[in-house]
Amino acid sequence: DKTFVIAIDGPAASGKGTLARKLAAHFDYALLDTGALYRAVGLNVARHGGDPEKEADAVAAARALGDMDLSDPAIRGESTGALASKVAAIPAVRDILLAFQRDFAESPPGGKTGAILDGRDIGTVVCPDADVKIYIIADVETRAKRRFLEQYGPNGTEAQYEAILADLVQRDARDMNRSTAPLKPAKNAHLLDTTNSDIEAVFEAALGLISKEQ
Ligand code: C5P
Repeated sequence: DKTFVIAIDGPAASGKGTLARKLAAHFDYALLDTGALYRAVGLNVARHGGDPEKEADAVAAARALGDMDLSDPAIRGESTGALASKVAAIPAVRDILLAFQRDFAESPPGGKTGAILDGRDIGTVVCPDADVKIYIIADVETRAKRRFLEQYGPNGTEAQYEAILADLVQRDARDMNRSTAPLKPAKNAHLLDTTNSDIEAVFEAALGLISKEQ
């Protein structure tokens, strides 16, 4: 039987990773955080003293993806997100990561019957035939607040918040305006706005959408 594929896209810190993890646990589906792939590539370029906007440097790092540790905590940092969005604007880098992502969706590891991929272009490019496509949005201030609390806890400073907000604004613009696989909802994506709803409500809404397709 064909794998059941759920595509989740949206801007940085929109809650897509959390939703994807909850759905994967609920359905016992395989989960691929595709942002982690771009983050690993960006981090690898930086660690080798390369330039994330230079095609040769970014491509070399993308080819070495198999040797990278996707569980390295440095991958999660906001500065790594910025590096990721720079390498992600290079078409040759996206090409290298595409095959891996499609393979994952078609034959998920562990013999799972379904796959959930979250990113920016899953519904539009990686899995255009996904069974369910979800596009998550939230106001940028809300997303910045979430990321700020996650990174600095309750004692973060105003300056740290402002830095995160500025970074998200810049990263959204880069992801939405690039010419290859820009961030945008697929035509048949279901929009979920998480600005005023907690993760439980978003999870319930997603379950409702998915149960109609299963
Ligand atoms: O989702 P996350 O914030 O971890 O993604 C980091 C960066 O990787 C994004 O800002 C985006 O530029 C890039 N990305 C992408 N396509 C994906 C997933 C992530 O371009 N499918």
